[in-house]
Amino acid sequence: MTDSAPPQLPPLEGLSSPLLDSVFAEFVPAEFDKQSYWHHRFASEKSFEWLLPSADFIRLVGPVLRNLRPDARILHVGCGTSDLQNHFRARGFRNVLNVDYEPLAVARGRDLESQQFGDVQMRYAVHDLTQLDIGDTEQFDLVIDKSTVDAVSCGGKDPLSRMMVGIRNCMAPDALWLCLSYSDTRFQLDGLPFNVEVFDKSATPKLQPMDPDVFNWCYLLRPKQQ
Ligand SMILES: C[S@@+](CC[C@H](N)C(=O)[O-])C[C@H]1O[C@@H](n2cnc3c(N)ncnc32)[C@H](O)[C@@H]1O
Repeated sequence: MTDSAPPQLPPLEGLSSPLLDSVFAEFVPAEFDKQSYWHHRFASEKSFEWLLPSADFIRLVGPVLRNLRPDARILHVGCGTSDLQNHFRARGFRNVLNVDYEPLAVARGRDLESQQFGDVQMRYAVHDLTQLDIGDTEQFDLVIDKSTVDAVSCGGKDPLSRMMVGIRNCMAPDALWLCLSYSDTRFQLDGLPFNVEVFDKSATPKLQPMDPDVFNWCYLLRPKQQ
């Protein structure tokens, strides 16, 4: 698989399929780092989950969440049209800031919370993660990311490095960043301000028994102490 995020096909039983996507990757250019791509897409898309349904992802990271206080400050990056934030709220976490650089995603996120709970208690904001500058005013205990690093990485290593520095600057000293990616080399960058470990590696479902193994990688990043 290349270092670019796989393009997206119509949902397979409600999910994206990295295997099918990789077949089509040769025909469709990846533009997942471009806001114009997401703007066009979210004009009609109301709800979609990349890589894993949020219910599965939240179960996967449950051991980390169990160590957080209910008032933990959580930053959800690249929320898209996922309902991941609703799973945090359902578990008692309300101090969640959901960010995306596409205003339509932020609007969809509010709608999804309102539809499920009848009101909006979490926060939503438009931010470009490659120019994140909220470290002076906000500090977070947990950063959560489902495939947003994959989209940003389509622009190359520089935007990903800038994203990492911006996120590092708004993390409290003992904060954690949980990140789900399809790439086994996502954080092979020089000079990272994080220690990176694989928290989980899960095989994705195969369409045919002879299909190659494809994994989702859940990384746990801890800020290096400066
Ligand atoms: C692959 S989708 C993942 C969406 C969602 N997290 C999910 O799991 O379904 C990537 C998301 O990242 C957002 N995104 C891409 N580049 C971004 C950037 N530089 N700053 C903020 N958001 C970005 C896109 O708008 C999109 O919502």
